[in-house]
Amino acid sequence: GKNHETHAFQTTYLPIISVLSLDPVIGAIAAGNAVALKPSEGAPAMSSLLAELLPRFVDGTCIKVIEGGVKETTALLNQKWDKIFYTGNSRVGRVVMTAAAKHLTPAVLELGGKCPVVVDSNVDLHIAAKRIAAGKWGCNNGQACIAPDFIITTQAFAPKLLESLKKVLEKFYGKDPLLSADLSRVVNASHFGRLKGLMDEEMVSDKIVFGGQRDEQQLKIAPTIFLDVPLDSAIMKEEIFGPLLPILTVDKIHESFGLINSMAKPLAAYLFTRDSELQNQFEGAISAGGMLFNDTSIHLTNPYLPFGGVGESGTGAYHGKFSFDAFSHRKAVMNRGFAGEARARYPPYSAPKLKILKGVLEGKLGDMIQAILGFPRGK
Ligand SMILES: *[C@@H]1O[C@H](CO)[C@@H](O)[C@H](O)[C@H]1NC(C)=O
Ligand SMILES: *[C@@H]1O[C@H](CO)[C@@H](O)[C@H](O)[C@H]1NC(C)=O
Repeated sequence: GKNHETHAFQTTYLPIISVLSLDPVIGAIAAGNAVALKPSEGAPAMSSLLAELLPRFVDGTCIKVIEGGVKETTALLNQKWDKIFYTGNSRVGRVVMTAAAKHLTPAVLELGGKCPVVVDSNVDLHIAAKRIAAGKWGCNNGQACIAPDFIITTQAFAPKLLESLKKVLEKFYGKDPLLSADLSRVVNASHFGRLKGLMDEEMVSDKIVFGGQRDEQQLKIAPTIFLDVPLDSAIMKEEIFGPLLPILTVDKIHESFGLINSMAKPLAAYLFTRDSELQNQFEGAISAGGMLFNDTSIHLTNPYLPFGGVGESGTGAYHGKFSFDAFSHRKAVMNRGFAGEARARYPPYSAPKLKILKGVLEGKLGDMIQAILGFPRGK
């Protein structure tokens, strides 16, 4: 662009807002579609920024931004689309898929879930703590679909991990994290109330081992760590989507597999270990949208990996070429000439013709028939 505003848009805002709203748009227009973009009403400033800026830089006849809440979204969902792409929670995901079903419209749902982080004792502890903290609190203070939701480690290792996390957090956000300019706010008052409810539930409120400070006026909640919360607590039942991090402990690290598999399939699963055997077992035993070893969240930035969920965490995938694929239909087109007639295909049928057809079905004459029909020869 020529003017400063264009420049600022490209360098300052784009990396932040592109991931969830514009990334799919890029795939959609690359594949030749027109787009109606409905940004989340949960982040109204970002929504109106997109509505203001996009028409200045893109072809408004192909890309429209529609702002609004439930009423506008419902009106949009009543239309017949070629594809619906939704990022958000699984409750609204069900609403979207139900609406899509009315028109038999395919939908990509990028949902979320409780992304587990398994921490083995055979790790570089300081680096693990830094990477967990960056993925959990550095990225929107836990308000990200791929943020670590909870940790599983061994009883013996938990105190060391906790000490390391505390040190890292103090370095990142200071003695009073609520004063830190680097700690994101909770997106709005209703989410603040929801998180407060999770923290204050009786069976978990005495499990806080770090943090716990909050400022309702400022919508700020400090990084807060819980140790050994009960599995039937609300914080272990719903996606946290905020700065609260429970640590669960097991006797042996392999017990984490069963624990994870007893819950809904997460969007991402993380494992920190030096043990390649453990890594292989984790990869085989756990079903998750994606996996990342020895780090958190950054697999999202790799354009060569399809990004998406499985089961409760969503369906379909995007990013890089996969975004293009997500918004394309692979239309199968076959050409035939007028040569290459197979008489056995046509009535009246006879015993010899039947023999040929049987051969085709049994695959014996496959190559011959393929040659007659002009298929490319398989190798
Ligand atoms: C807060 O944001 C959520 C979406 O994340 C939205 O559903 C809700 O209505 C918002 N609440 C308020 C009070 O703005
Ligand atoms: C995790 O890090 C350790 C130490 O660098 C390394 O030995 C191991 O192979 C890594 N795991 C994976 C899956 O790369």
